[in-house]
Amino acid sequence: MSHTNKIIVAIDGFSSTGKSTVAKQLASKLGYIYVDTGAMYRMVALYAFDQGCISPDTFDVEKLITLLPKITLNFVFNEKAGFAEAYLNGVNVESRIRTLEISNYVSRVSSISEVRSKLVDIQQKLGQDKGLVMDGRDIGTVVFPEAELKLFMNASAATRAQRRYDELLAKGESVTYEAILENVTSRDAQDTSRKDSPLVKAKDAIEIDNSDLTREAQFELIYDLALKAMQA
Ligand code: DC
Repeated sequence: MSHTNKIIVAIDGFSSTGKSTVAKQLASKLGYIYVDTGAMYRMVALYAFDQGCISPDTFDVEKLITLLPKITLNFVFNEKAGFAEAYLNGVNVESRIRTLEISNYVSRVSSISEVRSKLVDIQQKLGQDKGLVMDGRDIGTVVFPEAELKLFMNASAATRAQRRYDELLAKGESVTYEAILENVTSRDAQDTSRKDSPLVKAKDAIEIDNSDLTREAQFELIYDLALKAMQA
């Protein structure tokens, strides 16, 4: 294949729309780096929780802001798992950041501008040489407004809750479908209404509703768009 220009693929959308699955697949097919920015916000939420800055009804924002310089985030490729796992200050936290408890804290943590600017900085450095697929909420609007390909993923809240429910059950977490649906819809509300970098479709993003698409069909569609963007 005449692989032409290295590009940046920005994938945004609501939670549990399968962004990371397709982003990982695309990065591996293109030989690109994949960055899961949701995992970065989740790591900060986990750190806030471990340091006692956040609980279901308290949030010590000032303390978290003071502690931000102490946070180091990394991704380390796990050959066996086939993807890069999240490391917070040198410790593998890949499974801890995916629990429902942390999911319930992450929207509050990600609404803090100081948190966002620290993470956006890291994200922009990762994209300096292009050849990158990044997923999140503000990638096409804030992190890489010049990205060559921008996708905006969507699916109904019920479909998304069912997917997340199946995932967590498979991991052995004991949760109810109703609790997941509540988490999905409340995160939608918080992600779209926060002041700093709310979740919004970039004007030039291509919207993909995958409620009724198989993973394969979706991948073909997106791979094709990426090839076209590389040749543009
Ligand atoms: O993609 P995810 O569900 O793992 O993301 C977790 C949370 O992080 C989500 O509720 C919103 C926040 N987030 C964000 O504000 N900006 C990003 N670029 C990525 C995630």
